[in-house]
Amino acid sequence: MTDLDAAGLAAQHTWNTRYSEHTSTPHVAPVLRDYQHLLPRLGRALDLACGLGGNALCLAAHGLDTWAWDVSDVAVARVQNLAQQRGLTLHAEVRDVVAAPPAPASFDVIVVSRFLERALAPALMDALRPAGLFLYQTFTAVTVGEAYGPRNPAYRLAPQELLTLFRGLHVVVYREEGDIGDRTQGLRNEALLIAQKG
Ligand SMILES: C[S@@+](CC[C@H](N)C(=O)[O-])C[C@H]1O[C@@H](n2cnc3c(N)ncnc32)[C@H](O)[C@@H]1O
Repeated sequence: MTDLDAAGLAAQHTWNTRYSEHTSTPHVAPVLRDYQHLLPRLGRALDLACGLGGNALCLAAHGLDTWAWDVSDVAVARVQNLAQQRGLTLHAEVRDVVAAPPAPASFDVIVVSRFLERALAPALMDALRPAGLFLYQTFTAVTVGEAYGPRNPAYRLAPQELLTLFRGLHVVVYREEGDIGDRTQGLRNEALLIAQKG
């Protein structure tokens, strides 16, 4: 566990409160669920801002040496329990990823879902090892149907923004369906990017 500064403690308090009030179950983000065939067989994987760790549990079940980091100790304790219940090994740690981003060239796979901290983009690209895979999915400013996700527009992606933020990587998959066509189908309200380090 890293020491938390004032901003980290504030984020921890906010998210601990949410996790303590809701008994939500972990989910695997479509960016990982639907593209698992792209994962390497071996290597170190990180679920950054993991929440209840649905992505981390999936990465560990795939056989990757998996880390799950989140500022909320309530969430991290739940991830540890779930991993134990499922007989999976992973390293779940309390960590403020803004104050303490991953070290350069430290992971073969990094997954981020529903967490947007734009200033972290260079550190996340640096943290990938050569040929490392980056999977990112989060909310868009364009919404369809009943709104969910953050109310603060700063936490929603502008059109094509993931492509700009991570332009140092080679794009493998990009989906941003906006409000085009039959809005009852497809991936709506979120954009996803899978990209590889050269
Ligand atoms: C919307 S939740 C998403 C959780 C998970 N990735 C998912 O898709 O279900 C955002 C998560 O970011 C975490 N978080 C917020 N600020 C953080 C920070 N500075 N460092 C690490 N985690 C943070 C919260 O604790 C919360 O679990």
